[in-house]
Order: sequence, then C-alpha cells, then structure tokens
Amino acid sequence: MEKAIVVKNLRKVYEGEVVAVDDVSFEVERGEIFGFLGPNGAGKTTTINILTTLVPPTSGEAYVGDHKVGEEDEEIRRIIGLVPQELTADDELTGWENIYLQGSLYGMSRSEIRSEARELLQMVGLEEAADRLVRTYSGGMRRRLELVMGLIHKPEILFLDEPTLGLDVQTRAHLWDHIRRVRSEYDMTIFMTTHYMDEADKLCDRIAIIDHGRIKAIGTPDELKRMVEGDLVIVRTVDGPPIDVRLDGVPGLKDYTIDGTEIRIRVEEGERATPAIIESLVSRGYQIRSVELVRPSLEQVFLTLTGRSIREEEALDTISYRVMMRRRRG
Ligand SMILES: Nc1ncnc2c1ncn2[C@@H]1O[C@H](COP(=O)(O)OP(=O)(O)O)[C@@H](O)[C@H]1O
Ligand SMILES: [Mg+2]
Repeated sequence: MEKAIVVKNLRKVYEGEVVAVDDVSFEVERGEIFGFLGPNGAGKTTTINILTTLVPPTSGEAYVGDHKVGEEDEEIRRIIGLVPQELTADDELTGWENIYLQGSLYGMSRSEIRSEARELLQMVGLEEAADRLVRTYSGGMRRRLELVMGLIHKPEILFLDEPTLGLDVQTRAHLWDHIRRVRSEYDMTIFMTTHYMDEADKLCDRIAIIDHGRIKAIGTPDELKRMVEGDLVIVRTVDGPPIDVRLDGVPGLKDYTIDGTEIRIRVEEGERATPAIIESLVSRGYQIRSVELVRPSLEQVFLTLTGRSIREEEALDTISYRVMMRRRRG
C-alpha cells in the first residue's frame, strides 16, 4: 500500500441541495497525521463519514488503505478506527465496560480486549479510572476513553473528528501528547479534523484548509504560513539607528522597516535570508544584539484564504458541546 488515503473529486450533496463537500481531492501518506482545518459547517465531519463508509458520496472516488469506498466497505471498516465528534461512551457504564462493548463489535474475545486495553489505558493515563462509571469522568477523561475505544482493534488508520472539542487549553495539549504517542508506538496513519488553529499547527504533519466544502490550500504548517506573507526577521543592533542598511543582496527580500535599533525584514524564507542579513549588517560595522525569526500564524493564513476569521465559530461550538454534555448527564 502506497498512500493511506486517496481522494479524488469527492462531492457530497445532502437532500435539500446542501453542498457539504465540493470537489475535494487530497492524499494522505502512511504514518502521517493529516488534518482538515476549517470552521463549523465546512464539511469536515461529512468527509470523515464518507471515508469511514458511514455516508455514501454523491460523486468522486475515495480509497482508504487501497480499498475503494462504496465497493470494499467491509475491508475498510476492518482496518480503520473512528473517534467521532459526538461522544459515544455510555455514561452509565464503566470505562472497561465501554471498551468491552466496543471490542466485541470487532469480534475480539474478552481476554484479547483486556490485554490490548491495558496497554492503551496506560498510554493515556486512564488505568486507575477504568473501573469507574463514565459519568464521573471529566471532559478530558472522556476524550481519552474514546481514543482507547477507537484503538482497541489496532486499526491501521485512525479517524479523529475534533478530538479536543470543548476542552480547556491544558487538557487539549495533554491529549495532543497522547495522540502523538499513539501514532509513533503503533506506526499509525491519523486523519483528523479540527477548527483549532493551534491544534492543527502543533499536531498535524500536513493540513488541508477547508471552507464551504472546498479545500483552499494543502501543506505543512510551515508551508501554509509561508504562502501568505513570508517570514519576518527582526534584528536588533547594539547601536542605532542603522540608517544606511543595504539589504539588496538578501535572497527573497520583500521589504523592511527600521524603528530605532530594530530592523524588521520581510523575506520569503527566514532560514535562507538570515545569514545574508547578518553579514550585510556586520560588514557595515553594526554589532548585533539579537536575531529573531517570526513566522506568520495559521490564523493569518486562514483569514487571507477565506476572508474571515475562524474564531467566532469556535465559541459557538464550545457552548453547544457544553449543553450536549449536560443533557447526557441528565
Ligand atoms: N445529514 C445532513 N443532512 C443535511 N445537511 C447536512 C447533514 N449533515 C451535515 N449537513 C450540512 O453539511 C454542511 C457540512 O457539515 P459538516 O460536514 O458537519 O461540517 P463540519 O464538520 O465541518 O462542521 C453543513 O452545512 C451542514 O449543515
Ligand atoms: Mg464536524
């Protein structure tokens, strides 16, 4: 198997003419964490539902682990794990009981489930809590349990739909560590969705930015950031003002501004430009106090590509999640 996932011109039109996924194409390498980053309603869950065989596409083709969606769904279901956006664990059961239920769906024996789950529970720090009822769990513990449930049958490809939705910043960062560990220990491919910029940035090897069902850009976090504005190199000199700086020879130079002893230089690629910048300043007798390389944020990238910020939607999502949790707890 070469690619873990191949998607060609995928489209999904729901009844009522809602175009949820609009001519989407992308490929996911084996062992990669690939993320769909986009706001509410962008088509992220619909794409996951198609790839996990839950919802048929309207047109286009998709292959998961070399198996064609719509033709080899059984084979696909055997090699994938899914942690859906909506939590699935039963509140009135313990962690273990939920895990047994999930494992038995894959035809695993109780002892098989037990030995697999032990390792997973340990990996996500949930061994102690596994005998407790899920309704006593915190939001972060629930998400970790869902992760264990999605991994119990050792899938080759794991789908995570908004894995840290509604969690606080610290808990989310912990979950990222768990997800990274799962990927490296099991040599797994992960396809995930998120509307959190920092999550996509820190966790994903490559990101597709999706909005209104369309992919706006695909690349590594660094590549995406570079697409927009280039890097900023900030040099502070000991004595200023460095009025006669000449930066003509700097590769990929866009523009620069001088403010006191600080020069802010926009370049295509910081690593390539920095040596020339330093050399040019030093040769003119300036003593350099510090050099800083600032990359533009994904937030800026999203804004440039879509014309709006992702932030407002984030707040909405968190609220609806809280309401949902409260209802579940009854
Ligand atoms: N079962 C459905 N029937 C009709 N429209 C749907 C259905 N599921 C999702 N949609 C619509 O499709 C679009 C994409 O939704 P979704 O894939 O859930 O986006 P995301 O996961 O990025 O928030 C939205 O406009 C949503 O309202
Ligand atoms: Mg969704």
